[in-house]
Amino acid sequence: MSSQTLLRSSDPLLQPYVLKHLTLRNRIMSTAHEPNYHEDGMPKDRYRLYHVEKAKGGIALTMTAGSAIVSQDSPPAFGNLFAYRDEIVGWLRRLADECHEHGTAVMIQLTHLGRRTNWNKAGWLPVLAPSPIREPAHRAVPKAIEDWDIDRIIKDYAAAAQRMQAAGLDGIEFECYGHLMDQFWSPATNRRTDAYGSGSLENRLRFSFQVLEAVRAAVGPDFIVGCRLVADEDWDKGISKAEGLAICRLLVQSGLIDFLNVIRGHIDHDTPLSRIIPVTGMRSAPHLDFAGEIRTATRFPVFHAARINDVATARHAIAEGKLDMVGMTRAHIADPHIARKVMEGREHDIRPCVGATYCLDRIYEGHETLCIHNPATGREAHIPHEIPKASGPKKLIAVVGAGPGGLEAARVSASRGHKVVLFEATDAPGGQLRLATRIKRRKELIGIADWRFAQCEMLGVDLRFNTFADENDITALQPDIVIIATGGLPKIDLLDEGNELATSSWDILTGDARPGDDVLVFDDNGAHPGMAAAEFLAEGGARVELVSPERFFAPDMGGLNLVPYMQAFEKHGVKITPMTRLRAIKREGNKIAAILWSPYGEADTAARLVDQVVVETATLPLDELYFALKPHSNNLGAVDHPAFIIGKAQHNITNPSGSFALYRIGDAVAARNIHAAIYDALRLCIAF
Ligand SMILES: Cc1cc2nc3c(=O)[nH]c(=O)nc-3n(C[C@H](O)[C@H](O)[C@H](O)COP(=O)(O)O)c2cc1C
Ligand code: SF4
Repeated sequence: MSSQTLLRSSDPLLQPYVLKHLTLRNRIMSTAHEPNYHEDGMPKDRYRLYHVEKAKGGIALTMTAGSAIVSQDSPPAFGNLFAYRDEIVGWLRRLADECHEHGTAVMIQLTHLGRRTNWNKAGWLPVLAPSPIREPAHRAVPKAIEDWDIDRIIKDYAAAAQRMQAAGLDGIEFECYGHLMDQFWSPATNRRTDAYGSGSLENRLRFSFQVLEAVRAAVGPDFIVGCRLVADEDWDKGISKAEGLAICRLLVQSGLIDFLNVIRGHIDHDTPLSRIIPVTGMRSAPHLDFAGEIRTATRFPVFHAARINDVATARHAIAEGKLDMVGMTRAHIADPHIARKVMEGREHDIRPCVGATYCLDRIYEGHETLCIHNPATGREAHIPHEIPKASGPKKLIAVVGAGPGGLEAARVSASRGHKVVLFEATDAPGGQLRLATRIKRRKELIGIADWRFAQCEMLGVDLRFNTFADENDITALQPDIVIIATGGLPKIDLLDEGNELATSSWDILTGDARPGDDVLVFDDNGAHPGMAAAEFLAEGGARVELVSPERFFAPDMGGLNLVPYMQAFEKHGVKITPMTRLRAIKREGNKIAAILWSPYGEADTAARLVDQVVVETATLPLDELYFALKPHSNNLGAVDHPAFIIGKAQHNITNPSGSFALYRIGDAVAARNIHAAIYDALRLCIAF
């Protein structure tokens, strides 16, 4: 046995864990999360393939669903599965069977969302809660739950648990943070004066124990049942740490459950939610010690997840006895093969979760979960996570631009076994990512480029930095394929007057323009760059007004990503003016006047005298090289879209005398985002 193998066999993370009768093959799990991959509320092919990929990747336990709903008056808030329907059994059985074949245990999280949803969908039933207190995040005014509701929902929980058992799942957990169960527990949401309220813990836990007893009666003593529960709401109005610990003890003593999956915080709006699911720049593992305290106090199996996104921290959590099972949830959305890579001594190959939280922000806006830099996640049906070697002849592929898209094109092409030359005009990889990381708290995003750069080096890509490739450089190389990933540049031409007086957000972020003291930022893009420029300016001491034409500003940024910007804006007194456009900029003495107008009244509304106007308009493609090369190419730059969409080979030779196939990707085509650039690269190059 080699010393490396010996080390791995004693790795705390890789030790099996026995939970009741179930042996979990290691200590790594993915906690419940709703990816919104359902079809008609059912976990069909997309859903199954997503979980099976993690099973192939060696994970011990995958907790499926995020909050599968037990009753019809808990309408889906973010694509939740319908655990109240019998037809779910067949779909889950198939999912569980396929995960089991790869050695992974499968459980599911069940819930009634209570007030954490809205009434204007599915059956249009009123939303319920212990007391009629609105949740700021979902905004429904709930009906105070009645006795007949309680009776029926208890039966629904038990019936749902039986369905999960019938599907062959290894266990279930109940969601008890921000949902109906703990809405009863929390003084913030329970003002009842009956046997389910009145302040006493016994009353507030009554509903949960009634559910647990009914569930046990339905599934028997052997089926694994746990609670994912808040053990401290970290909120002056909510459940205190002492009360949380008392709840844990009561649950443990009841003998009705088999594990505690510990949460600290509350989720009724985005700011506290971001403390439970911390985003990039926030502390790693902020609640790990707390979860460890619960484990020590209860001597009961404890699971926990909250930004434990690297193997070293996960290993520490197990080695130090803080947890029995460590949740690495977003880490698996970024790389479903973590455990296998650890087992194979390939930790360095793990694609890092950089905390961008694109995955979660998307579901709250009704989209499906996608990882900002792993486009294969959720698309397992046609995009592989591991790039297979090409079966055809080895090709020479030239890639121009080492931003996220260009790096991905080089990585994927080299993984296919091709020879790749990557040209980059500057001295470092990253492209526009490097602008994003000009805000200190977003520095970690550079991991998107660093990981690809390291993979390219390992795969032998010929990396040519400080090389501005022109038409002759490319044709002289005699490549088979050329990929233009040159990105874009901002161009300010939206004003009636004074475009030349505007400063771009890029110039602010790169440091090419000196920040003014009194600055108006007009964000006509609605994504990170305008917000980042405003934060950068405010952090530097400027007085900033952020003007947006939108009803809700930054529409292309999700709620969790918004939180740190808003915190910075609050701190520095940034003024936000929505529903307003910038028409012109004029010189006025040593100041400049920004002329604002309302898209509703269509008239000028105000002028602001400032010393700098920053405009964010997204980018236009840097496409000179593409158009110069187009006549030399055999496809004249054309893309076969149906093939491209599913990552299949391109067959579009429209100019047989051309000597190479030419493609452009990412912002070199049209301004989009990091995911789009990487996805373009992956689905194109996977087919070469
Ligand atoms: C897309 C997405 C959906 C989620 N939905 C749920 C959910 O329905 N129920 C739940 O308990 N947690 C949910 N979570 C939270 C995760 O289970 C986990 O606690 C969180 O992502 C922090 O762990 P991590 O840093 O390892 O990702 C969700 C997370 C994500 C990213
Ligand atoms: S989007 Fe960001 S937070 Fe979510 S999995 Fe990908 S890297 Fe991690």
